[in-house]
Amino acid sequence: CRKPPSSNPPPLLTLDSRRLYGPIWRSRFGPFDVVNVATAELIAQVIRQEGRYPVRTDLPHWKEYRDMRGQAYGIHVDTGPEWYRIRSALNPKMLKLKEVAAYAPIIHEVVSDLLQRVELLRLRSPDQVTVKDLASELYKFGFEGISSILFETRLGCLQEEIPTDTLRFISAVNDMLALSEMVLFFPRWTRHIFPFWKRFVQAWDDLYDVGMLKFNVCIRDAQYIISILVIYIILGTSNTLSWTLYHLARDAEVQNRLYNEIASVCPNKELPTAEHLTRMPYMKAVIKETLRIYPVVPGNGRLTVDSEVIVDNYWFPKKTQFHLCHYAVSHDESNFPEPECFVPDRWLRDNPSRSQHHPYSSVPFGVGVRACVGKRVAELEMYFALSRLMQHYEVRTEEGAPSIHPKTRTLLIPSKPIDLQFIPRA
Ligand code: HEM
Repeated sequence: CRKPPSSNPPPLLTLDSRRLYGPIWRSRFGPFDVVNVATAELIAQVIRQEGRYPVRTDLPHWKEYRDMRGQAYGIHVDTGPEWYRIRSALNPKMLKLKEVAAYAPIIHEVVSDLLQRVELLRLRSPDQVTVKDLASELYKFGFEGISSILFETRLGCLQEEIPTDTLRFISAVNDMLALSEMVLFFPRWTRHIFPFWKRFVQAWDDLYDVGMLKFNVCIRDAQYIISILVIYIILGTSNTLSWTLYHLARDAEVQNRLYNEIASVCPNKELPTAEHLTRMPYMKAVIKETLRIYPVVPGNGRLTVDSEVIVDNYWFPKKTQFHLCHYAVSHDESNFPEPECFVPDRWLRDNPSRSQHHPYSSVPFGVGVRACVGKRVAELEMYFALSRLMQHYEVRTEEGAPSIHPKTRTLLIPSKPIDLQFIPRA
């Protein structure tokens, strides 16, 4: 490829283990005994046997907090018929394109705030073009977007002065995610020695306190809202947009092609609609390629509950925790030649460089009946934000800017701030 994301990407996640052990191996993570599967075919085998009420993982520390406070679990943590009840109510509202398209005006309102914020930040910078730490701005955008869509509440994240309780909420989400791995990793008896558990409980308490106040709801609804809000959602769209802009800034040809597509479908900076998006295959390919290289959820889980399963001709008893190694699979050469290269063309139909890949080789939103319920909303939000940013600006990197690698914090995030230049278009 013309512009590899980095000449020497760091050994990340399960890629090295797969090289060492092959496509299936066992490992330990905190209290979990885990069976890792790292080919698309093996992921498909696990999903085919996931049953009617799939369980992702046990999340014992999340459950423990809720038990301690006498609260319900919510969609992320719930299992069995209770999960199915909530999920069946959400599916028609969230997964039908027509229903989701109705959110377009709200999303555009939040995207307009994002554009204003970018304009303000760039004008305020010494060179009048650079926006520092773009990911954190997009993170606020993700927050604002999802709370306006799901709860019809504006949090004021993109305002000049962010309200104090919104700041407290944002930092509680960060703490909860950062501490989640620590809490799992260290045995329970260490809780009086290390501060992690106490801070983890505090983060959840803050989430509920501010959540109930902000969304003006009772505790039961807050449990549901916060379960939805905290993980994947906020960081999902913002991270994906950050990496997309990072690559576009480094590859003028891809950026020009994208801009030309947007300008031809929506001339004169016309606001894109859901219908316009159906005529923007290249933009969809750009986002797909970003999610392939940086799947926000780099590894997913399935816990076998109801029955024994056979995977790769091995027999596994009930209660086996499988780790589905999304990252390793979407970086697999046999599915995606030159996997570290950013090549949106691989996703275009009728294109000679379209990859022949297994349908489960890049599944950033998960698969099966428990897959991401917010996929359509997330896509709409990302397409609108990206197309309008492109209509208004050309993005570039600063002279000599370093390559940025991803790192894991439960989710896959940039390891350093991404600073980009936003050059206004005529
Ligand atoms: C780029 C953005 C996003 C990515 C990459 C993403 C990814 C994921 C993944 C991988 C899962 C686990 C799926 C599985 O176990 O098979 C998931 C679950 C979930 N996501 Fe997303 N997500 C994103 C945005 C969103 C948004 C915007 C919402 C809400 C509107 C959302 C709501 C949820 C919920 C509620 C679940 C749990 C579903 C269940 O357990 O039934 N996500 N997401």
